[in-house]
Amino acid sequence: MSQTTPALAGKLAGLQSSAIRDLLKLTARADVVSLAGGLPDAALMPRERIAAAAAAALDDAAVLQYTESPGWPALRAVLAARETARIGRAVPEAEVFITHGSQQALSLLAEVLLDPGALVIVEDPAYVGALQVFRAAGARIVAVPLDRDGMRVDALEELLAAGERPAVVHTVSNFHNPGGVTLAPERRRRLAELAEAHGFWIIEDDPYGELWFDAPAPAPIAAYSPQVIRLSSVSKILAPALRVGWMVAPDRVCRAVELLKQGADLCGSALTHRIATDLLTDTDWLAAHVTAIRTAYGTRAKSLVDAVRTTFGDRVSCTDATGGMFVWADFTDGTDTSALLPAALDAGVAYVPGSAFAVSDAYRSSMRLCFTTSDEPTLTEAVTRLAKAAE
Ligand SMILES: Cc1ncc(COP(=O)(O)O)c(C=O)c1O
Repeated sequence: MSQTTPALAGKLAGLQSSAIRDLLKLTARADVVSLAGGLPDAALMPRERIAAAAAAALDDAAVLQYTESPGWPALRAVLAARETARIGRAVPEAEVFITHGSQQALSLLAEVLLDPGALVIVEDPAYVGALQVFRAAGARIVAVPLDRDGMRVDALEELLAAGERPAVVHTVSNFHNPGGVTLAPERRRRLAELAEAHGFWIIEDDPYGELWFDAPAPAPIAAYSPQVIRLSSVSKILAPALRVGWMVAPDRVCRAVELLKQGADLCGSALTHRIATDLLTDTDWLAAHVTAIRTAYGTRAKSLVDAVRTTFGDRVSCTDATGGMFVWADFTDGTDTSALLPAALDAGVAYVPGSAFAVSDAYRSSMRLCFTTSDEPTLTEAVTRLAKAAE
């Protein structure tokens, strides 16, 4: 009998593995200082505190049971209180939904909010994890550029004036990955007004908001409109392995996400939800812990930025690194950062070329530099190596 090979779904045809994941395989060499990764520093994760919380959680057999699809109730309660304080309006528990990292919220939301061919507006450069999700959903993706004040809301207004009707606008509002910038307060207000006038959802993707260095991040976009679906996560302040993210959204969105979450994985892990609850309610400990991360990352960020500015002068312009994990840098003389990468690896430094984040064909002279996992002398040495490669 002849053999007929079973097919994969047609929607997979246009999907590619993230260029960054492929690149990270190349950069994982002991002699290379990698500014390419996008990971928080494992040495700053509260391992002992998590172990104590896990031991306490395991005293109760219920923690090994399935839990409710929207998440462990006590975790939803503590997050509702935190988000109430952050957004500045009462957020009921029913509007908080726990996901397997905020990435799962993106993926479930794409299914809940988008029909195939629906228009999604993203930022350019974009968070590639969002691009992957929206592409997999069969969305039509149109990008709006970033500048130093975040998404160019004026460019979005032009698209709307030209008749574009997005279902969703996705924005990384604070300490952008990869762009390093924060959406200015007046743009937040305008974006919310546009969402209400034109009937689209805003996904405010905010895993970095608590990692500010000099001044707290502005009020969330969710403070300005109920059409904002706000995402955040403990990945960057506690540990990604907990896979605890959350969504704040109107009840009907939460109920739709609940239906899909049941199909995706039934529920999250009661064990990690309970660990997260323990740590988030230990408020004095948490405040000291987050301050320690801010201080460490802030010091690293400043030494990276200082080294780039001192070493390259006008040849490279870079963001100020006011929070988060990334600096975005542009060669002003047109140096092609993809072409430069092999020489940089030979010199012992890695970064992600800007083109990896480009929705358009742009950012050929840009790069994303991650400062979280190297100490200050190593970051300075990395910039010296980069200068050698770019001579
Ligand atoms: C902008 C943005 N959103 C979402 C995520 C997903 O994070 P997690 O699923 O760990 O919460 C990341 C991770 O790097 C990110 O940079």
